[in-house]
This record gives sequence, C-alpha cells and structure tokens, in this order.
Amino acid sequence: MDLLEAMSGRRSVRDYTSQRPDDSIIAQLLTAAVNAPSARNGQPWRFTVVRDPELLDRLSTEAKAYQLATLPAGHGNEERRARMADPANHLLHNAPALILISAVEPSIWAVEDCALAAQNLMLAGWSLGLGSCWIGNVQFYLNTPEGKRLLGLPEGCVPVAPIIAGYPASQPVPVPRNEPVVSWIG
Ligand SMILES: Cc1cc2nc3c(=O)[nH]c(=O)nc-3n(C[C@H](O)[C@H](O)[C@H](O)COP(=O)(O)O)c2cc1C
Repeated sequence: MDLLEAMSGRRSVRDYTSQRPDDSIIAQLLTAAVNAPSARNGQPWRFTVVRDPELLDRLSTEAKAYQLATLPAGHGNEERRARMADPANHLLHNAPALILISAVEPSIWAVEDCALAAQNLMLAGWSLGLGSCWIGNVQFYLNTPEGKRLLGLPEGCVPVAPIIAGYPASQPVPVPRNEPVVSWIG
C-alpha cells in the first residue's frame, strides 16, 4: 500500500476479530516505529506488547475504576462517569493486543518522539491489514505506580501511547476532517 493511501485510509478500529497478531507482524510494526525521527536521534522509547486476554481485561477494569475514583463529580463529568461504571464498556475494545510505547529518557522531547513512533506504528499496521487505535482512556491509570506495576514497567518509564491492534472485524466508519486552516506567507 502506498504511503499516501495509508495516511488517508487509516481509521481508528474499535471492532476486532479474536485473531491475535503474531510475533512477526508485531516485529514489523516495531521496526516501523523505531524508524520515526527523534530529537538528537535519542530514540527514547520502550515497547510493551500485551497479548494476554486476562491482563487486557484487568487493565480496562482498573483504568475505569481509576477514572471513577479521580474524576470529580459534576463539572460535566456525569456522562463520562456513567461510561466508566458500565461493565460492558471495554476500554480496549476487546482488542487481542496492546502495544504500549513508553518514554524512557528524561528528554524534553520524549513525548513528541514517542508520538511519532506511534503514528509510524499505526500506519504500518494499516498497510499490513491491521487495525489500531490509541487508547488515551487507559493512559492516566498507566502512569500511576499501580498501572506501571501491572505491566511490569520500570520506575522511570512514562507511558505515552497505549495502542490497541488487531484484525478489523468490520470497516471503521470514517470521521470527517476539517479543511486545514492555513496562513500562506509568501
Ligand atoms: C491521544 C489520543 C487519545 C485517544 N483516545 C482514545 C480512546 O481512549 N478511546 C478510543 O476509542 N479512541 C481514542 N482515540 C482515537 C480518536 O478518537 C480518533 O483518532 C479520532 O476520532 C479520529 O478518528 P480516526 O483515527 O479514525 O481518523 C484517541 C486518539 C488519540 C490521538
């Protein structure tokens, strides 16, 4: 698949078959990720690949509980609190795999670097027939000591991009894009 086609065709996937992406396809995604640019070529990333269904379920449950415990009542949070209390709401959309990209360097650019690696990984996945979706909903929990312990992350690690991946069970619905706002100078 051509790169422009992957960039315009990629959509977040939230409906997966149970087929688990094998080691070789995950290795291709990781190779694409580490080819991302990074400030001073610091490559401040570390990857955690989770394909244990029980651990993925537990992460969803714990992240929902964390949001319920930390989201202030009111402030327009009622709808969100109701979603976090819903046992049928799986934050990882029952995906067969999670690839977490964490920052390992105390560099001021580490988050940007990891986000670039994440986009490479998602585009590579799309071109190989794999769907993906960044799950910000588990990110705050993963940044707690308990969250890091759950995935065996070392102390200094900062989880940046939790990305679910798997084979799409249905076509994702395209979401509209705004026209770019541009100031042309010269
Ligand atoms: C930082 C970030 C956090 C996101 N968090 C979630 C999430 O928690 N759950 C989810 O289903 N999608 C999440 N998404 C996916 C966005 O909703 C999606 O990218 C956006 O609606 C555009 O749709 P597209 O990716 O299909 O083009 C997140 C995306 C980004 C970049």
